[in-house]
Amino acid sequence: MVARLIDGKVVSADVKSRVIGAVRELKAIGVRPCLATVLVGDDPASATYIESKHKDAKEVGILTRDHRLAATFKQKELHELVQLLNNDPEVHGILVQLPLPSHIDEFDILSSLSPMKDVDGLTPYNVGMLQSGIAALKPCTPSGIMELLDYYKIDVGGMDVVIVNRSNLVGKPLLILLLERDATVTICHSKTKDLKEKLRSADLIVTAVGNRRRFTLTANMIKEDVVVIDVGIARLNGKLTGDLDFDSVKQKASWITPVPGGVGLMTRAMLLKNTVTAAAFITREMSK
Ligand SMILES: NC(=O)c1ccc[n+]([C@@H]2O[C@H](COP(=O)([O-])OP(=O)(O)OC[C@H]3O[C@@H](n4cnc5c(N)ncnc54)[C@H](OP(=O)(O)O)[C@@H]3O)[C@@H](O)[C@H]2O)c1
Repeated sequence: MVARLIDGKVVSADVKSRVIGAVRELKAIGVRPCLATVLVGDDPASATYIESKHKDAKEVGILTRDHRLAATFKQKELHELVQLLNNDPEVHGILVQLPLPSHIDEFDILSSLSPMKDVDGLTPYNVGMLQSGIAALKPCTPSGIMELLDYYKIDVGGMDVVIVNRSNLVGKPLLILLLERDATVTICHSKTKDLKEKLRSADLIVTAVGNRRRFTLTANMIKEDVVVIDVGIARLNGKLTGDLDFDSVKQKASWITPVPGGVGLMTRAMLLKNTVTAAAFITREMSK
């Protein structure tokens, strides 16, 4: 069997068209959703991510503010900028690009963001809301994965799922979203014993490692008809790739995501969705 493609281009276009509708509704009541991004330092990959976020926002009619700060920017100054953005009624979403330089305490900065404007869903408040099953702003990558599964009507209820990643950005929030849908989830990482055995018994595998030398998912590690979602971003022979040996895995899986063209596009689309969600919520709160 050859796997069917879970196409991030198709699903992200669908999310974006819903966002365009929401932007239109907000405009009709005099609100222009606005996303502020904050980039500290000159990491080229982070700068590229910021540029795509601005391009995406423009495409759907979301205004943007672009704050680019020197790598030497101090924690206190960053705090002050976050407070300014928190208090700015014209800003609805704030995204602080991670990772921050090592002299800045990431948790402290994320904690200072207004939860209502936390479009990455990473403040302690929104993490708690996610745990409680009532979050409005969920982390973009895991919620993008859920959109992909929903679009293709892949019901995870009762599935044995293995996630190869335990980060706050991917593995931990995805665990919660999948549990909510009645999946049985195992989180794996670099210290997991018998990873291959766990992978071989999974109905759904989500990988987010991003280092092909350390981890590559190949056909002999999976069972027939498994669903495979590749979050990893790696380079192989100078080419952008994910965690999968795509050509072999697609011969055995039932569904598969490509890299590029899969989860990455969804992460970008979900940021836009969270921005209009935040704008609508803030507008409602202000009119009370
Ligand atoms: N497509 C997207 O939109 C998107 C979004 C977010 C992230 N990503 C990509 O996803 C990847 C992970 O991102 P992240 O921020 O979560 O990074 P991270 O915190 O470094 O996570 C990597 C995970 O892989 C695990 N790992 C490393 N080597 C392993 C091995 N040999 N066997 C099993 N597990 C192993 C690590 O285990 P330990 O915890 O034990 O170290 C860790 O949990 C990166 O490539 C990133 O670029 C993509």
